[in-house]
Amino acid sequence: MTKAQKIAWITQAHFKNPPHAAAQLKTYWNADLELQNKHDEFIENTLTNFYLPLGVAPNFLINGQSYTLPMVIEESSVVAAAGNAAKFWQTRGGFEAVVVDTIKVGQVHFLFTGDKQLLHSFFNDHKSELVASTAPYSKNMEARGGGIQSIDLIDKSDLIPDYFQLHLRFQTADAMGANYINSCLESIASTLETQVKKKLDPKKEGQIEIIMSILSNYVPECLVRAAVKCPVSELSPSKDWTGADFAKKMVHAVEIAKQEPYRAVTHNKGIMNGVDAVVVATGNDFRAVEAGVHAYASREGRYSSLSSAYIKDEVFHMELTLPLALGTVGGLTKLHPMVEWSMELLGNPDAKTLMKIVAVAGLAQNFASLRSLVTSGIQKGHMKMHLLNILNQLGASENQKQQAITHFKNHTVSVKAVGQFLQNTLP
Ligand code: MEV
Repeated sequence: MTKAQKIAWITQAHFKNPPHAAAQLKTYWNADLELQNKHDEFIENTLTNFYLPLGVAPNFLINGQSYTLPMVIEESSVVAAAGNAAKFWQTRGGFEAVVVDTIKVGQVHFLFTGDKQLLHSFFNDHKSELVASTAPYSKNMEARGGGIQSIDLIDKSDLIPDYFQLHLRFQTADAMGANYINSCLESIASTLETQVKKKLDPKKEGQIEIIMSILSNYVPECLVRAAVKCPVSELSPSKDWTGADFAKKMVHAVEIAKQEPYRAVTHNKGIMNGVDAVVVATGNDFRAVEAGVHAYASREGRYSSLSSAYIKDEVFHMELTLPLALGTVGGLTKLHPMVEWSMELLGNPDAKTLMKIVAVAGLAQNFASLRSLVTSGIQKGHMKMHLLNILNQLGASENQKQQAITHFKNHTVSVKAVGQFLQNTLP
């Protein structure tokens, strides 16, 4: 079916008012046909575009350099919170960030029935041949400083009978590396299967069956750490708080998230508000990042806070360590014009710099959330930011919106209060 046929088919089959449903899809088409076509081709059966706002959070000082972060997110108050935290830390030394390592992982999963010792020595004898089979993909990657770092045969037959894996570690330079890693793995799997079948007697020595070859989104060796610190005396968030009281409350808030999984999930969700918004804006795979981050948050057997906070020698410290497999070349980076725009806004960072920026976005968001939670509570600020959504939902005119924004500077926002205000205000 053509796109028009698909729209006719789907709207007629599922909507009360098919012409209206079709028109709605078309409202979101881009007038520039070439641009629209580009978006249509990202996925399959594209009918239209689905907008998310792109906002910017300025005033981020990261390792002494100023950044304005692009953030794509639907939740009101996230961008404002990031901007507030950035401004707060801008005058207190800014954010420090370091990349700990950038190792990615991929595995070939297979079954082997036969002599385990023989498999181990077969693997050792053929290791370089397996790695050499990736030459068509590795040549380019090695020229950019990447490539296979290690390959190990691991016996997992205590988990599943006959289950073994090849566990590979990769460096992928400025690429996220999914295509490179998966191509290498498939090539290695096919070489392994061919060679075992050719050289081992299936009856006496052993048989192999490849199950699958795929990268892992768990990247505990692809880590970045972001941190802030300042004397407790300079930490006061407002005139109602001493820095010391505020610092103690912040440390307690983080400690609760360290110990208590229900709180940890929400605490980390706040971190991911910042992380995902920049990851999406820069065209990276947020599902991969989410999966890897939450696995990392459970690495000690219990889901826990990704950030930590402490006071030492009257200095408040807050840190966030995240596994982030990000790319600044390949993928959507050159395909999506807004990704290209976001990258330029960030000064076209390499992958390591982007890792630092994203981790800082997560830490800023975490700091801002906890600051609200332990002082005024989250709703005050959140509902203020949500005011425009409520006004739009209630069909307010431009005049009513302007008046409401002024009125609610000094009044508590709720759907009921905004509704009442609109009843008493001329459109
Ligand atoms: C809301 O999107 C995020 C927070 O719930 C995070 C947190 O509780 O730390 C405010």
